[in-house]
Amino acid sequence: MSIAFLNDNFLPLEQAKISPLDRGFLFGDGIYEVVPSYHGKLLGFNAHLDRMRTGLEGINLQLGWSHEKWKSICDELCNQNGNGNLGLYLQVSRGADIKRYHAFPENVKPTVFGFAFEIGASPSSDKGSAKTFSVSTAEDLRWQRCHIKSTALLGNVLHFQYGHENGDDETILYNDRHELTEAAACNVFIVKNRVISTPPLDNQLLPGITRNLLIDILKKHSNLDIQERVVHMDEVNNADEIWITSSTKEIGPVIKIDGRPVGNGMIGDIWVEAQKLFTKHKYDY
Ligand code: PDD
Repeated sequence: MSIAFLNDNFLPLEQAKISPLDRGFLFGDGIYEVVPSYHGKLLGFNAHLDRMRTGLEGINLQLGWSHEKWKSICDELCNQNGNGNLGLYLQVSRGADIKRYHAFPENVKPTVFGFAFEIGASPSSDKGSAKTFSVSTAEDLRWQRCHIKSTALLGNVLHFQYGHENGDDETILYNDRHELTEAAACNVFIVKNRVISTPPLDNQLLPGITRNLLIDILKKHSNLDIQERVVHMDEVNNADEIWITSSTKEIGPVIKIDGRPVGNGMIGDIWVEAQKLFTKHKYDY
């Protein structure tokens, strides 16, 4: 049985209940995080918490919980859920008022919810056993604040569903200038002639913790050229390798895009190098 956290209590997930007037439910008015944990060891916890704080500030939601409080909630969620390979989902919404009204309510306590779900073991960097991914592509039709990790994910859900209905694992998105932004639930990297490129951080994409960690690790521990720059979809379509990154996937090698092979249609050598270094150094930061 899965144990969840709701407003200062730990309880079985199926017993966790919130008001239908909660603004998270009515408006998607909240911020969330997904923190990976392998055998009780949280990965990138400080960075996740910093991003959550920035997100809460970005939507003017005051919670004021300490670093220690969040850490002990996460540790307890791991302990109560068996300390395996877990994703910790944390969500803060603006809480439940007694009416539905768009403006922020006064004197309403935020709702804080957390639960743990199983994720796979840390991915192997072995070409033979690594999980591969296929993607669709589509124009990014979400809002202009994609740097905020908002619970209002309908835009992402619709994009993800499009890829899913094509039999793909993800949908890679581009803006109206045909420049890569990110994927529905991941950041995106491409490799061409051993040069790794990923779009720069701005309002069009989430500042992924895995993205930043990967860039730091590669800069410090490899001599690979890694560039944060505008990436055109022509480059994505002609890349030797494409990777999608997220907290639950680490670095996912994409071998098919819109039904065509990426590069030679097999996992690339630079991915092997990157995933090996990521596995080795991911707890250093
Ligand atoms: N998704 N971009 C989007 C739109 C995302 O939703 C995510 C993460 C990422 C990668 O961020 P990070 O490396 O910090 O996980 C990029 C999470 C896992 C989710 O919604 O389940």
